[in-house]
Amino acid sequence: MEFGKSMLENFLLNNDYSMINHGSWGAVPKEVFDYKMKLLRDHEALPEYFFRKTLYEEQERNSEAIAKFVGTEPNSVALTDNTTFGVNSSIMSAPLSEGDSILVQSFTYKATACVAERIAEQKGFIVRTLDIRLPIKSDDDIVQLYANELEKYPDIRMIILDHISSAVPILWPVEKLMNLFRAYDVIILIDGAHAPGQVSVCLDELQPDYYVASLHKWNFVPRSCGMLYVADGRQESMHNIMTSFKYKARPFQKRFHYIGTRDFSSLFCWTQSRNFVEKCGGLVNI
Ligand SMILES: Cc1ncc(COP(=O)(O)O)c(C=O)c1O
Repeated sequence: MEFGKSMLENFLLNNDYSMINHGSWGAVPKEVFDYKMKLLRDHEALPEYFFRKTLYEEQERNSEAIAKFVGTEPNSVALTDNTTFGVNSSIMSAPLSEGDSILVQSFTYKATACVAERIAEQKGFIVRTLDIRLPIKSDDDIVQLYANELEKYPDIRMIILDHISSAVPILWPVEKLMNLFRAYDVIILIDGAHAPGQVSVCLDELQPDYYVASLHKWNFVPRSCGMLYVADGRQESMHNIMTSFKYKARPFQKRFHYIGTRDFSSLFCWTQSRNFVEKCGGLVNI
């Protein structure tokens, strides 16, 4: 597979424009897009069969493959539409109440901070924002800023941390910060919207409470396809923000299998997207 201008032949992008914002929406290779169209036709041909059988088999097959990609067990991963969906579900499910606070920071994705703000208004906790100014000199400076904030505000019960932030793209030192956060026994939600596909992710090593990502950004999967990881101890209290038939199903990821009648096809194109990546020589080559 040739990189450079000729690569455009593999995509449906309008070549009169230069698409440089890959991070927000990703881009879907033609062959993956065609597979999604095939799935749509298959589902259209036998809707009863799809919604009663194939849907659940495909959820399990795809979440198993995605769990492997992010270095964890299939039982810890659910498929979602996107990061926003996972953020809403995680904050809503976290055991926070009046007297607690949740910590975001200057570079937290605005939509994620809005979710925290809204749920805080409902549940009565507060949202604190750690002020981080550029230039940042070292990872240790960031760890120190967080340590100061945790010392200053003992009510911090949950921290939301971007793995790679958006408007100013910074790869945050998540491993070092995790060590600090664990020492303060806070609940950790990592917004990995941009991480899987750009950096290697091993959730069994990282061990956050919640980790969410949008796979349509950097993995050539059609929109909308996201993942939600939930640590063992948080799974029982984890609920889908979009409540449906599977409200209290076990294991927890079944609660995300069905969210009302809709098109699920983007969730089931993982293998085809990986095939494209492999043809390019893997993510390292890309
Ligand atoms: C850091 C970060 N978090 C969350 C999101 C939301 O992703 P989505 O729109 O796929 O839910 C984005 C989107 O660009 C983002 O950059």
